Order: sequence, then C-alpha cells, then structure tokens
Amino acid sequence: MSEDHHESETHVLMFPCPAQGHINCMLQLAELLVLSDIHVTVLNTEHIHQRLLRFAEIPSRLAAYPTLHFKTFSDGLPSDDPRRQEDYVGEQIKQVNLMAMPRLREICVEASGKPRFSCIIADGIFGRLTNEVGQELGIPVVYFRTISACSFWAYFCAPRLFESNELPIRGEQDMDRMITSIPGMENLVRCRDLPSFFRANHKSHIPLEPVVFETHQSLRAQALILNTFEDLEGPVLSQIRHHFPRFYALGPLHAHLNSRKATKTMSSETSPPSFESSLWEVDRSCMTWLDAQQPKSVVYVSFGSITKISRDELMEIWHGLVNSKKRFLWVIRPGMLSEKEGQDPPMDLVEGTKERGRMVGWAPQKEVLAHVAIGGFMTHCGWNSTLEGVAAGVPMMCWPYFADQQINSRYVSEVWKIGLEMKDVCDRKLVEEMVNDLMVERRQEFEKSTQAMATLAKTSVREGGSSYSDFDRFVQFLKSAREIDGSLFMK
Ligand code: UDX
Repeated sequence: MSEDHHESETHVLMFPCPAQGHINCMLQLAELLVLSDIHVTVLNTEHIHQRLLRFAEIPSRLAAYPTLHFKTFSDGLPSDDPRRQEDYVGEQIKQVNLMAMPRLREICVEASGKPRFSCIIADGIFGRLTNEVGQELGIPVVYFRTISACSFWAYFCAPRLFESNELPIRGEQDMDRMITSIPGMENLVRCRDLPSFFRANHKSHIPLEPVVFETHQSLRAQALILNTFEDLEGPVLSQIRHHFPRFYALGPLHAHLNSRKATKTMSSETSPPSFESSLWEVDRSCMTWLDAQQPKSVVYVSFGSITKISRDELMEIWHGLVNSKKRFLWVIRPGMLSEKEGQDPPMDLVEGTKERGRMVGWAPQKEVLAHVAIGGFMTHCGWNSTLEGVAAGVPMMCWPYFADQQINSRYVSEVWKIGLEMKDVCDRKLVEEMVNDLMVERRQEFEKSTQAMATLAKTSVREGGSSYSDFDRFVQFLKSAREIDGSLFMK
C-alpha cells in the first residue's frame, strides 16, 4: 500500500526512543491506531530495526498490517559497534538528537512538497527535536511519555521544588526527608523516592536539567499521551490536566490492545495476530517449566532491558532467592552483569537453583506474568513491567535501578499497596524475607489488593472505561487533525 498521504486517510509518523521499554509501548499504540483505521509509519534506528527483524517476527507479521510501515535512519555508529549497554540509553538519546533531523525532514515531506503525515507521535524524550520539525513543516506533534504519570509530574515540578528549597537533596543523610510541595503527591514521596536523576550521584550519569527541559517541551505539543489509567494515578492526572488541555491516559496499553482485539473478534471482524517487539531472542522453554509448577508457587525475577547488576548484588539476590526455598524463574539478560569475571558460585546456590530455579536470557514476560504458576514478581519497576504486573494481578517486590523506577517502586509499596520495596540496598536477608512475605505471610493481603487493582486496570480498557474512552477521543483528534492546516495547531 502506498505510503504517501491521501486526503481521505489519517497517516501518523511514530518516532520511538531506541530502547526496549520505549519501543514496546510505542508499538502497542501503533497497533491500536492501525486497528482504528489510521495509517502508521514507525521511524526506528537501523540498529533497532535489524534487531526487531531478527527477534520479533516483524517480517512475517507485517503482511497482516498493510497500513503499518517501518522506516529507518542511522544512529551514526557502525553496525558492528557494541553500543555499550551501561550508557546505552543516554548515548542513544544523544546520537538520535544528532542524527535524526535530516531523515525526519526527508520522510515527512512528499515529492510534491506536501507533508506526508497528519501528525507526528514522538517519544517525549525527543521534545525539542520533534517540535522543531513539526513547527518547520506545519505538522502537529503529540508527545508520548512512556514513564508513569507520577514520574512525569515529578520531573515537571522540579523547578518548583528548587524554588521552594525542597531541592537539591543534601547528601545521604537527607534521603528520608519527605517532599511536600508536589501537588497531588504531598507527603507521599521522600527524597529517596524521587526519580534517580534528582540525585547528584546516580548510576546513569544523566543530569536532571535536560530531563526537565525535555519534559517542559511537552507544553509546546498539541497533545500529551501517557501509558497509565485514571484509577491508578487519578490525583496526579488531575494536576497534569491543568497544564495539558489535550491529554490522554491510554493504559495499560498491552491490556488495551488485547481488549480491542477481543472486541473485534467477538464482532467477527478478524484482527491480525500481534507482533512481539523483543530486541533479544525469547527463550520459551521457561513456559514448559512453568507448566510443571504448582499454582502461585514461583517468583518471577526480571530487571528489564537496561539494569546492570554487580556480582555482589547478583550474589545477594541469588542467596536470598535460594534461601527462601521458593521456586524462581530469573531473567539474566546477556550483558546484564557489570563485571564479566568472578568466582564460581558456591555449591549451595548451584544445587538450590537446580532443585527450584530456572534462569533464561530473555522471557516472554507478559505471558510469564499471566501464568497461573506465578505468585510474585521481583522487578526493577520499569514502567512497562510495573503495568504488566498490575494488569496480571501479581504482587511485586521492587528493587529500582534508575530513572522513574524509584518513584514507581514507592507507589507500588506505599500508595497502591500491591507490593514491597528494597531501595538503595541489596541484601540477601531482605530478599528472603520479602519473598516469604509476598508468597506466604502476607499473601492474602496482597492477593486482595492486587486483584482489586487488576480489575480496575481491565475495566479501564473495556468499552466505557476511562482509557478506552480516552483512546476514542484521541483517534477523533487525530482524524480531525488532518483536516485542518497543521500550522493552526501550533501555539
Ligand atoms: C526503561 C524504564 O525503566 C521504563 O520505566 C521506561 O518507561 C522505559 O525505559 P526498562 O528498564 O527496559 O525500560 O523496563 P520496562 O519499562 O519494564 O520494559 C521492559 C520490557 O521488556 C517490558 O515490556 C517487559 O515485558 C519486556 N521484557 C523484559 C521481556 O519481554 N522479557 C524479559 O525477559 C524481560
């Protein structure tokens, strides 16, 4: 099908940040839009595209989606560059900001000189970049921030926190001080719970200023999207709406996609099978292993696509899991360990793992979390993982690594009360205790709270639910956007 823009069709360009957590939800949104008769072109780096082709069955699935296209641009690094994991996201953001502009300009304009797209939906991390292109070419821009509303709002309110002298954080002894002046989350978070970029020394070396700058760029967009839902983050969403009149909460997107597809199937319209978006090879053998386990007997352990862990941390978590005597399925992603060499693990760990554990390089996480054998989720609280845990109704034990994960983890444990957190420490005794609390001691309490939240998540993405209605409004907005000269949308 032609990729040029026809007057009768709505065609959007989606521009994700080149990292697993960002791509997953961007592609879920892309699929939802295609199901609503919107043409979509996704612009990825060549490197990401090659990995999607290799691991995500994109070529075989694309035939079922004639109105979904992929385009690429070079991130400026040679194809054999190892793209070091530890600084990968920060580096990639820099590279995209350096390299993407010419390609964006080129593909946004048809040979006739008319804009090819009726709207650009960009990862909000690229606020300045996409605003410039949108403004220049008269194409409306919508930002999709793939983080939680609570972390987006904390970034947004950072200037206010400096003005009221609540920031900066004054060293380690200051970490438990309560933050009082973020509207909608007064006295809920401590300095320790603010996104990691608020700390002077944090692992990612990403300074707060550009994060806040890009967050404030969202004010220049025509609309803002978050992957969340009203019943999860309502008080914060009300605050956000004061600043963003055109705001859509569409999540949890993975559940939303399933819900819309189920509706289509019931109405006997065929909906094509979803494509996965893994950047690593999925090891499905863990599903057979899970099939052989008792209901709610396994802790699933996964720290997402960016987290690095030291050998000491690995040992603490491993001892804690084995000492808990519970069964566990653990994703040890290739390149996840920050030190390559180290002593062989002690025999008790090897034996305990043989008896009760299973390790894989990359799992089909959403399927794993939905499996009846899973009773708990040890997570870094990346926003996708958190939402996947919420929707599956699985209690979480959180060990946040960086960025939004610190505040997500606080919300899981203290606001939604659907899990426990281990923050700024990594201790085998604590891991053992938390596994036992989750799986035995406080199991009933967590079953109640997680099931209640999972029901709210499902309701939000069913017809009449808040995210379902927001998505319908969003599609209307996109369809009307193409009828009006893009420049009218520019503030
Ligand atoms: C990061 C941030 O932490 C996150 O909050 C932000 O929104 C995006 O960037 P990441 O650390 O990778 O992402 O975590 P997360 O958001 O949880 O995304 C990981 C994704 O990979 C999840 O969708 C998860 O289902 C998937 N995954 C993880 C697998 O499919 N298999 C695995 O074995 C592990």
